[in-house]
Amino acid sequence: MIKTELFFKDEVNESKITSLYGSIFDEAKSGEIGYYHLPDSNIAQIEQFCKSKKPEKIKNIVILGVGGSSLGVKAIDLMLSHTSNRNDKNLIFLENVDPVEITQKSKDLNLHDSLFIVTSKSGSTIETTSILKFLLDKFELSFDDKRFCDHFVFITDENSPLDKWAKDFDITTFYIPQNVGGRFSVLSAVGLLPLGLVGYDIKALLEGAKSLKESFFNQNEDELLKKAIVYTQNAKTIPINVLFSYSSSLKYFNDWLVQLWAESLGKIDYDGERVGLTPVGLVGAIDQHSFLQLIIQGVKNKSVTMIKVKNFQNDLKIPDIKLPNLDKVDFINNHTFNELLNAQCDASMQSIIEQGVRVDLIEIDSLSEQSAGYMIYYYELLTSLCGVLLNINTYDQPGVEQGKVILKEKFD
Ligand code: PA5
Repeated sequence: MIKTELFFKDEVNESKITSLYGSIFDEAKSGEIGYYHLPDSNIAQIEQFCKSKKPEKIKNIVILGVGGSSLGVKAIDLMLSHTSNRNDKNLIFLENVDPVEITQKSKDLNLHDSLFIVTSKSGSTIETTSILKFLLDKFELSFDDKRFCDHFVFITDENSPLDKWAKDFDITTFYIPQNVGGRFSVLSAVGLLPLGLVGYDIKALLEGAKSLKESFFNQNEDELLKKAIVYTQNAKTIPINVLFSYSSSLKYFNDWLVQLWAESLGKIDYDGERVGLTPVGLVGAIDQHSFLQLIIQGVKNKSVTMIKVKNFQNDLKIPDIKLPNLDKVDFINNHTFNELLNAQCDASMQSIIEQGVRVDLIEIDSLSEQSAGYMIYYYELLTSLCGVLLNINTYDQPGVEQGKVILKEKFD
């Protein structure tokens, strides 16, 4: 289903791999970090809720959430939006407090055919609560209105401010396990509820993640550990990892990964040193016409991960048409766009490897719920592995707290 390959020859000590497995196994066993176990969740309540929301009644699923509360859902929906399970409900994201965007995205929304999912682990994020207030005002709703209960659901932590509100006014609520962090939560209700509502097979999503979970916890993923070891041990001189995804469907997957890595891996380590791996997301073939130049001839401070989708399940062809003065592009006539894009991926990869840049390849057979679940879990594991190797707390984000305090002072 998914094949990975490393195009660098760094030697990695067996004992380092064994001890790294041990660190993650301890973390998973301790119960402190919960995302490891999400593929085994009981999702009956979520499936039941999705079934109860009849397609003819709801046209729009609107997510109010930001960061880990929205990016994973966006990533998986774009990855799979062309697949057969997707129904025709609109999935709309109200994430940013940009007045133009809020106005545009909400202008055609009605209460009667929309379901609003308020996703916030903390239950108090300023972007999310501000947009929620805007919607209450737009629909002339009060928070104890029966219509509010019919059209709003919450996904949050137990005992968060949102949860307390929900308990007082009987609002349907799904919990995020306490030990699952926001950016690691897409395989919980955060992702499963909206993705189930738009028709995806959420069981298959978890199965995809579970197949990697089992293989990893049976110590069959040495290559993944090797990649984490090599990229982190060179992080001082090669601090940037470029994710070069050869599919427009992976654009938001890149965004999800950038958030996951940036917020997890940019830290002051346990010895007081600033560390991190800077993620950059590119989409091929488009970014061959921009960032590729920087990789090939710019400062050699980047490693590159290529993602290739082998089979797009789409036979669209470049027609056999000869254009005036353009015989030099005729070699591609009669080939599929799938072939062209993949050959471009191979060609870029070869040109990068020839520069002596460390490259690894993730080749996905085809985009499906299973492969999406696998990819999410793959990158979550990789993030945890890198966090152990960088000697940091992967799961907190103290660096973003100070800005929140300053923001409040500005309005005091
Ligand atoms: O990963 C994280 O913890 C953050 O990116 C959060 O997801 C983001 O800040 C949103 O927080 P919350 O879900 O509490 O509204």
